[in-house]
Amino acid sequence: MEGVTAPSFRDLVLARNPPLALGGACTEFVRVVDTPVPVKVMRRHLGPHRFAQPVSLQLMGSDLECLARSAIHAVEAGAAVVDLNFGCPAKGALRGCAGSAALKDPRQLERTVAAVARAIPGHPVTGKIRAGFDDASRVEDLARAVEAGGAWMLTIHCRTRAEAYCDEVDWTRIARAVSAVAIPVCGNGGVSSHADLERMRAQTGCAHAMVGRAALGDPWIFHGAATTEADAARFLLDYADALFATGEPSKKGVAGRLKQLLVHWSAGALCRPTRESWLHMQDPQELFDRLALVAGEGRCPRLNPLLAAKVPA
Ligand SMILES: Cc1cc2nc3c(=O)[nH]c(=O)nc-3n(C[C@H](O)[C@H](O)[C@H](O)COP(=O)(O)O)c2cc1C
Repeated sequence: MEGVTAPSFRDLVLARNPPLALGGACTEFVRVVDTPVPVKVMRRHLGPHRFAQPVSLQLMGSDLECLARSAIHAVEAGAAVVDLNFGCPAKGALRGCAGSAALKDPRQLERTVAAVARAIPGHPVTGKIRAGFDDASRVEDLARAVEAGGAWMLTIHCRTRAEAYCDEVDWTRIARAVSAVAIPVCGNGGVSSHADLERMRAQTGCAHAMVGRAALGDPWIFHGAATTEADAARFLLDYADALFATGEPSKKGVAGRLKQLLVHWSAGALCRPTRESWLHMQDPQELFDRLALVAGEGRCPRLNPLLAAKVPA
């Protein structure tokens, strides 16, 4: 997810969920505009290859030539899978006829998948769609377009572009996509607990289920492990360490990234008595100190001492 699922966060989640529980992960979208994205940018999004699970590199764009050449760079950078984003509802994406704009024209969607699949023969290409642009009447056409383009798997976020991130979800749209294609389908949208993962598979017939925001608040959601308040605090301190290690410039910046997770946080009993008591903390050091206290560790954040001296307040 954009702004969150960089390697610093993704690796911590992968480390806590065995491959049987968490089969793979994806980078945030890499925007392809009018020049191919260089290999070094792809490497930054992928990070070091530390876990058995495949990490897909997601591309979003509408220029077929640039997408195809970017896909070649993604493979060169070590991407196990190249995923194509046809779901982003942001105005910037729509202006560039990218993301969910493709949902208006299944034939163009198919051409986009085909252009990328042709560029990297033998390498898996997957496509992620929403259930439609304004409504879900063409779910089947969209799913078939991704399959006809040569994708190995279809991921469907069951909300339409118009529905953005509304609370209500309709998983029957996932079931319709499953019925329309022969490739594996990964269902997405509205999974808020470990039990929902199985419920989605049972109700829709999808082969895989993808978790979005709930994973930001419960990194153990795939595994379903019971977690304590201390585990939760340790995760957040590990995340702070990882952000500092990757060059996040200030304590304030790191605290902001932790709060991005705390908005969604559900694991352990960390957000008791109130979530607001965490979110309203102004002083980053106070936040780190409170986490360290809950984690039962002597100092915080558990920075690499060599880096600590370089981190401005
Ligand atoms: C902050 C944010 C960033 C996102 N970035 C991406 C992205 O880069 N690529 C993508 O395919 N989906 C992205 N999504 C959509 C999620 O992957 C997912 O499809 C959506 O949140 C629905 O799943 P959920 O109900 O489990 O959250 C993003 C969602 C959010 C909230």
